[in-house]
Amino acid sequence: LLIKNLRQIVQIVDDSTTEFLVGEKMKDLKILNSPECKLCIAIGKDGKIQYVGEEEKVGILPPDVEIVDGKGGVALPSFVDAHTHPVFAGDRVHEFAMKLAGATYNEVQKAGGGIHFTTEKTRAASEEQLYGDLEKILSRMLQSGTTTIEAKSGYGLDEETELKMLRVLDRANSSLPIEISTTFCGAHAVPRGSTELKQTELIVDRVIPLIDEAKKRGELKSVENIDVFCETGNFGVESTEKILRAGQSIGLVPNFHAEELTYIGGVEMGARIGARGMSHLEEISPSGIAAMAAAGSAAVLLPSTAFILRLTPPPARRMIEQNVIVSLGSDFNPNAHCLSMPVIMSLACITMKLSMEEALVAATLNSAYSIGRGASHGALAVGRQADLLLLSSNRWENLIYQMGDHSHLISTVIKRGNIVHTRK
Ligand code: NIG
Ligand code: FE
Repeated sequence: LLIKNLRQIVQIVDDSTTEFLVGEKMKDLKILNSPECKLCIAIGKDGKIQYVGEEEKVGILPPDVEIVDGKGGVALPSFVDAHTHPVFAGDRVHEFAMKLAGATYNEVQKAGGGIHFTTEKTRAASEEQLYGDLEKILSRMLQSGTTTIEAKSGYGLDEETELKMLRVLDRANSSLPIEISTTFCGAHAVPRGSTELKQTELIVDRVIPLIDEAKKRGELKSVENIDVFCETGNFGVESTEKILRAGQSIGLVPNFHAEELTYIGGVEMGARIGARGMSHLEEISPSGIAAMAAAGSAAVLLPSTAFILRLTPPPARRMIEQNVIVSLGSDFNPNAHCLSMPVIMSLACITMKLSMEEALVAATLNSAYSIGRGASHGALAVGRQADLLLLSSNRWENLIYQMGDHSHLISTVIKRGNIVHTRK
C-alpha cells in the first residue's frame, strides 16, 4: 500500500525502539510537513511500515502496489485505547439520571445498581448476544480511529460468566479488525451475597487456574492482563495484591484500577509488584507518583469518567513533571458511555491541562506501552505496525480542537496495512 499526496505526517517518534515519551519529550513530536503535499507512507505485505517521507525518495515499488490518495491531508497513528469495558448487556441510562440528581457512584452501587446491575444482565445474556453487541461497539471504535484496545471482563464475577466474557473478547480479537489485549477483571466488584475474602478466594483458587488451563490448551490467547478494582468497599490493597500476584504466576500482567474514589495505597503496592499500568488515579498520593515514575508503571488516565462523575481530575501535570508515563483510555463502560478517543483527548486537554501534543502521545505511543506494545504500535516509523488514520484536514490538531467532529475529519482507518474504514 502506498499512501500519497500527504501534507503532514505525525510520526510521534521516527524509530522502532522508543517505547514511551515522558516529561518535556511529550511535547516534542516528530512531524513532517510538505506545503506541496508530497509526503508518502509505504506499507509492506506484512502490514509493517517500510518508508515514511518525501515521495521522490520512496524508491522502486512493486507493480501491484495499491495507491491511496491522501488528498493533501494528514496521516497520524491510530489510537490505542488503554482501558475499556466493552462487553456487557443492558444500559444504565436510569442511573445517569440518578447521578445527575446528586447520587454518587458508590451510593448507586450500594443501592444494588452500578456494576451489580450490569452483572445481572450480563449473566443472563447469551455468548452470541454479547458478541453481537461487542461487534457493533468495536466497529464504532474503529470509525473513531481506535485500532487497538485493552478490554476487560468483570461483569460476570462468577466463574461461568467471566469465562464467557473472556471467550467473547478472544473471539473478537481473532475475527475482527480491531486488536484486543484482553484483561481478566473478575475482581471488578464483590458480588451480592459474597464477601471480599470469598471473592478473592474464588478468583485465586478457581478462576485463575481455569484461565491457565485454557491458555495451555491454546485457548484465550488474547488474555494478557489481570485487573482488580482496588477501592474502599471493594477490594483492599491486601486482596488486590493477592489476586494480581496469582495472575502474575500464570503469566498475566498487572494493570488495575487504583485510587479512583479514595486513597488506600494501591499505587504504592502496584509499583512494588511491577504493575505495567494503573488506571484512574484521581486520589493518587505524592509518594504514589514518585513510585510510578521509578517503576515505569503507566498512568492510565480516564478523563470521561472523572468528568461524568464530577470527580476532581487526577494530577496529570504533576505526573508529567515527575516523568510518569501518562496514557489515556476511554473507560468505555455502562457508567461512562464514550468510546471516542478524539473526545477523550479533548477532555484530557481541557480538564487535565494536557497540551494537544501530550494528549496525542498519551493516546498512541504511551497507551501502546501500557499494554506492552510500545515498540510496535503508536507511532509511524519504519518497522512498526501500519496502524494509522488519514484526516481531511490541513493540520492534525483539528481532531482535538473540533471536539466531537471526528467522524467528519477521519476519512480512512488502516490496521496492519489494511483499510478497515472509509468515510462515506
Ligand atoms: O473504570 N471503576 C471501576 N470500573 C469502571 C466502572 C464500571 C461500571 O460502573 O460499570 C470504571 O469506571
Ligand atoms: Fe474501568
